[in-house]
Amino acid sequence: MADRTVNIGLSLGADICWPICYESLFERLQLDGMKQLGKTLDFNCERVTIEPYSLHQPVKYDVVIDRLTHWYSISREWIKKAILINDLYVYNNPWSLQSNEKHTSYAAMIRLGLPVPETWMLPPKTYDPSDDLEATLRNYAKMFSLDEIGDKIGYPFFMKPYHGGGWKGVTKIDNVEGLHKAYDASGTEVMNLQAAVLPHDWFVRCVGLGPQMRKVNYDPGAPLHDRYRMDIDFLPAEDQAVLEDMTMTINAFFGWDFNSCESLRRDGIWHPIDFANACPDSQVTSLHYHFPWLIKANLRWSIFCAATDRPMRKNMDWAPFYKIADKDIPPREKLSEYAKIAHKRFETEKFRTFCRKQLGHLDELAYDFFGSSVMRDAIHQKVASLFPPHEVNEFTELFWDRVQLWRAQEGQQGDQDGF
Ligand SMILES: Nc1ncnc2c1ncn2[C@@H]1O[C@H](COP(=O)(O)OP(=O)(O)OP(=O)(O)O)[C@@H](O)[C@H]1O
Ligand SMILES: [Mg+2]
Repeated sequence: MADRTVNIGLSLGADICWPICYESLFERLQLDGMKQLGKTLDFNCERVTIEPYSLHQPVKYDVVIDRLTHWYSISREWIKKAILINDLYVYNNPWSLQSNEKHTSYAAMIRLGLPVPETWMLPPKTYDPSDDLEATLRNYAKMFSLDEIGDKIGYPFFMKPYHGGGWKGVTKIDNVEGLHKAYDASGTEVMNLQAAVLPHDWFVRCVGLGPQMRKVNYDPGAPLHDRYRMDIDFLPAEDQAVLEDMTMTINAFFGWDFNSCESLRRDGIWHPIDFANACPDSQVTSLHYHFPWLIKANLRWSIFCAATDRPMRKNMDWAPFYKIADKDIPPREKLSEYAKIAHKRFETEKFRTFCRKQLGHLDELAYDFFGSSVMRDAIHQKVASLFPPHEVNEFTELFWDRVQLWRAQEGQQGDQDGF
């Protein structure tokens, strides 16, 4: 008889493939009976439903993995209530997600001294009518010269919405005509202009899940299914360390357990350009070769958080980062110091010990699972939902082959990041 049943909830939208894989492997792990701090634990995982609730009502979940907060307000408000009243742990921190836009993330990391490229904010080109608008603009909107701003930043640069949004409205600006054209077309959207890190020799997306990090060579110009390249160990150790430290810092600073950070390397320096991507793409059709890593990392982190009753950090507490930022030490040293705070907040050592002790059987189970018919069917279902009927078999085969390549190359040893 268990002392406690640990409940993990999946708060899902249109997700297909990753929940199937998460749930299948969760079951295969047979965690019931796990001993943790003298207690015997049973485990349950289920999908969270959407329904009316009383604010006084208890919540059964210890951990919720949430995919809806950024757009579905009822789930977000339920999650916020459950954190405040029922001690729920959720990734990611919903207040942080709601309030920290891409623009804010640039500001914060500039303050910490990370080499974010020169970035400007523009008032919108047009406005939706509102009561006080005319008086506000008449009194306070200062005339400005777009040409001068363009010259200050230097061409080329990128115009992109200040809140991000899946590559919508991103334009490369090569000259003043292009700048005017893009600004005229931007309408009511509030835009950032950001100096281009071009040319660069590497474009890497570093995906973080708790303290687990995967560095993926990224090709933004390729079709969606080829953007995540399949190279492994393609970077020198110090470059990897910089990317990991940066992503750890960003994720700990904002309370994002699951986020990805895009960085470009020019002249040996990594410039982060897009790192407010909490809850990034988790589909096998985008991640393919890297998908098994994500599922394993997700299982490890959620089970750790649930089994150890990891308390949710409700407030951001930025002061320790600012204290380091204000020290008179070289940038690389600062980054290492930030990363130390991050490792403390993500309990890296405790997590490592937990994985070794309680989840040592995951690697072998995952190796088998990702070669199983359940995996193949999950790929097929996802592909069928996205691709035209005549391409379904071809792309199911393609993604299946890439997952099998992962099994052959990495599946039998533990993961790159050593958890
Ligand atoms: N400063 C930059 N230097 C070079 N390339 C850039 C820069 N900013 C953006 N890009 C290019 O434009 C693409 C989209 O920009 P960005 O990643 O900032 O927005 P996004 O992907 O739409 O944001 P999100 O997905 O987080 O909403 C990048 O993948 C990159 O190819
Ligand atoms: Mg991006």
